[in-house]
Amino acid sequence: MLETKIRKARTRDARAIYALGKRIPELAFSPKYPFHELSEIKEFISTPKENIMLIAEHNGKTIGFIFAKILSRSAGGWCMLDNLGIDSRYRRKGIGQNLLDAFYKEIKGRKIKYVQILESKSKQARGFWKKEGFKETKEFIWAEEMIK
Ligand SMILES: CC(C)(COP(=O)(O)OP(=O)(O)OC[C@H]1O[C@@H](n2cnc3c(N)ncnc32)[C@H](O)[C@@H]1OP(=O)(O)O)[C@@H](O)C(=O)NCCC(=O)NCCS
Repeated sequence: MLETKIRKARTRDARAIYALGKRIPELAFSPKYPFHELSEIKEFISTPKENIMLIAEHNGKTIGFIFAKILSRSAGGWCMLDNLGIDSRYRRKGIGQNLLDAFYKEIKGRKIKYVQILESKSKQARGFWKKEGFKETKEFIWAEEMIK
């Protein structure tokens, strides 16, 4: 098994998370909004009450990350799991699973029960979420607009 360390991201990890996120096409929302900006990643990391960002490291290198937004804390608590991405060279080694386990531990500590994901239609993502027990709800169509 590959030796990895899972930990909360610090501001100095932002650049590595950004670089990794940009290399994973499934994490791009649309041509208009391909992936989070570096400034946003820094913002997410520096506002831990609203955001959870954990990374997986191997030999000091960031090889995966998980990011979720906490949308409410009342009525059971709700968060949106926005990104889970593993460097393509390190997939199928249990790292996604390890990140998700660490994420569950974190949200349990914050008394959040409901987790929503946006599932990309790729085979790997579907296989992963299915194995993790996520059930598909209904299909949505994403629409977007840049407000002028
Ligand atoms: C989806 C993703 C995060 C999985 O990460 P990973 O570290 O490779 O996953 P794990 O090794 O922890 O896999 C756990 C289980 O998920 C399932 N799974 C993972 N990849 C799969 C694939 N390509 N096909 C089918 N099932 C898959 C398997 O059941 C696997 O268990 P097993 O290897 O014992 O059979 C990774 O493929 C990825 O980064 N994909 C691109 C980004 C993405 O689509 N993210 C999800 C939407 S935000």
